[in-house]
Amino acid sequence: MGKGVEAALEKINLPEQQKEWAFNFLQPSRPVLVTTLEEDQTTHVAPFSWIIPISIKPFLVGMALLAKPRKQRSLSNIENHGEFAANLPGLELARELVLCSYKVKPGVKKAKLAGLTVQPAHKIKPGLIAECRAHLECRVLSIEDSGDHRFVKAEVIHISYDRASYNPDLTPDLNRFAPCIHLTNYMIENGEVHLFLKPGGVSVFDVPYVEK
Ligand SMILES: Cc1cc2nc3c(=O)[nH]c(=O)nc-3n(C[C@H](O)[C@H](O)[C@H](O)COP(=O)(O)O)c2cc1C
Repeated sequence: MGKGVEAALEKINLPEQQKEWAFNFLQPSRPVLVTTLEEDQTTHVAPFSWIIPISIKPFLVGMALLAKPRKQRSLSNIENHGEFAANLPGLELARELVLCSYKVKPGVKKAKLAGLTVQPAHKIKPGLIAECRAHLECRVLSIEDSGDHRFVKAEVIHISYDRASYNPDLTPDLNRFAPCIHLTNYMIENGEVHLFLKPGGVSVFDVPYVEK
């Protein structure tokens, strides 16, 4: 970054009372639809953004799920059963994804409510969301407290994906679909408004190595 730009940035200190919103500095995020197994052996679905790769070989992911003051149902299912799938949606599923984040009455199945199709997975018991572009089937290795969340470490044991939606290096092919990239949301009287980003192309930076 040029020195002139740095000089022009006017930094202020975040007041302590605004810290509960500080996670927004790390937005946008890439929510996935997580499927887990319910006690009645049906597939439960809810969106979660805080999921990242934490190892390449083996391929491990880490995911943070709210535990206090309210425990996510998905977290209880993962604790009870030890498996989940991360289903990767395109932007066309944004409305369904948000619907799956709403609280529902006991017995109501969120996948059905959102009109999503559950299909069998390859290596785990929870089903997959057929409308999603790719599916990471995960087996839990450990779960530990992480402030008001719990951090789930899991190994990805099987991956399936729509070949046409991904480039040969397995990045999303932006000419074929827009990934779900979430910026923010706010409440209105009878629901929530969610802002997702639309890809506007890519900027290419060709950066030569620095000579040692
Ligand atoms: C875009 C988006 C991303 C979210 N990411 C997370 C997350 O990373 N961790 C979390 O605990 N909740 C997250 N939530 C909230 C949960 O989806 C929500 O609390 C949901 O009701 C949990 O469902 P469950 O209790 O059926 O598991 C997110 C919600 C949305 C809309």
